[in-house]
Amino acid sequence: MLSKQAVDPAKRRSLHGHWSSRMAFILAVTGSAVGLGNIWKFPYVAGQNGGGAFVLVYLACVLIIGMPVMISEILIGRRGRRNPVATMALLGAEEGKSRHWQWVGGMGVLAGILILSFYSVIGGWTLAYVFKSGMGIFTGADAAAVTAVRDNFIGSWKVLGSFHTLFMGLTIYVVARGVERGLEQAVRFMVPALLVLLVVLLGYSISSGHFGDGLAFMFTPDFSKLTWDSVLAAMGQAFFTLSIGMGAVMAYGAYLPEETSILGSTAAVAIADTSIAILAGLVIFPLVFANGLDPADGPGLVFVTLPLAFGQMPGGVIFSTIFFVLLSFAAWTSAISLMEPAVAWLIEHHNRTRAQAAVMIGLLIWAVGVGTVLSFNALSEFKFLRGTIFDNLDHLTINIMLPLGGVLITFFAGWVMCRNSTADELGSAGALYKFWRFLARFVAPIGILFVFLKAVGLLPDLS
Ligand code: PFF
Repeated sequence: MLSKQAVDPAKRRSLHGHWSSRMAFILAVTGSAVGLGNIWKFPYVAGQNGGGAFVLVYLACVLIIGMPVMISEILIGRRGRRNPVATMALLGAEEGKSRHWQWVGGMGVLAGILILSFYSVIGGWTLAYVFKSGMGIFTGADAAAVTAVRDNFIGSWKVLGSFHTLFMGLTIYVVARGVERGLEQAVRFMVPALLVLLVVLLGYSISSGHFGDGLAFMFTPDFSKLTWDSVLAAMGQAFFTLSIGMGAVMAYGAYLPEETSILGSTAAVAIADTSIAILAGLVIFPLVFANGLDPADGPGLVFVTLPLAFGQMPGGVIFSTIFFVLLSFAAWTSAISLMEPAVAWLIEHHNRTRAQAAVMIGLLIWAVGVGTVLSFNALSEFKFLRGTIFDNLDHLTINIMLPLGGVLITFFAGWVMCRNSTADELGSAGALYKFWRFLARFVAPIGILFVFLKAVGLLPDLS
């Protein structure tokens, strides 16, 4: 054990290989960040939480909490160069503190498994819509018809379950092949293409006649509508969309070349991710209002608004098919990163090959995902705590496990690791470094805990 710790962190190598360049890393983390969270989840969570004020809190959370957490995760990952469990144990011991920090890595591995279990069901839903779009069934359809297609689709556990199985199969396939091959190429093409299509859609939603309503809904804050529960949801969404708080970015950081700037990479990813979410909102809300739909409709919202819009457009069949292909890609590159911590852990700790580990973890995730499949049909009336099995998994992971992971990770980077280690990893001790360290030591952990305790009612009102 001690001999391992004596290795100079700069000379550590990851067992799983390294990204070929700084660009490859930025693309991989962007691929992880940009996904269903931006296009499927952001609009409906914003819709359910009243719009404007939620969006502002979300943006603030990305900036003052999300970015410091992401920087902390990457620097921890690169210093340890192992899976999140082993990295936290190693660095904990190396800093003369406890190896028990590995439990933070362990919670991340578990969060990844639980999130992917429902993410895959929605990923499968996107895949299904590639086929539905391609067959032209949305052409000329009105809101009632598109809603009926959606309800029939999720109403059948066999169909929804089959697409969940297909999506998990695709994810297992890429993770088993190793992250570098294939993935880089996919992301290089996918993110710009998605952006272009969203801009095309933006043009359409501007012409819908309700762009002003959408804009007002997203950017006119009514703070009287904001509850602590929706502040928690905004913070959870910031974590979810940036893929932070569970070790995915830490695992990717472990494969990062020594000389790459962590601060610069984080800024690039945060900008790309936030722009795509905002763009998705600007596309979707005008369409919601133009078609008399309800912004608080829930998880099925984009699966109604977008097919409706495409159905009215010339060339809609082609655009719609391309759009859902891109969204499936975006979901795929995120799903891979959700699995990577658990797979890296199984390989390193239990001597499995990558392919074996990917299949074993994948099967486990698939099985947990059946609970979410059934939440939309056979077990839709089976409700406890927050609602269906899906609602509970969603709340537990995104609003509880990710923020808790974020507090512990920033606390670790800010207080457990010494100034020399973090400055060494960030390559500077200048003003930006000091600013990050202040955010990581005080603002992020205290801010997250405050929102969290407020939302669960453990902090009294001051007034
Ligand atoms: N960031 C992804 C999205 O917005 O769809 C979801 C995600 C991926 C969350 C990876 C967490 C994670 F580790």
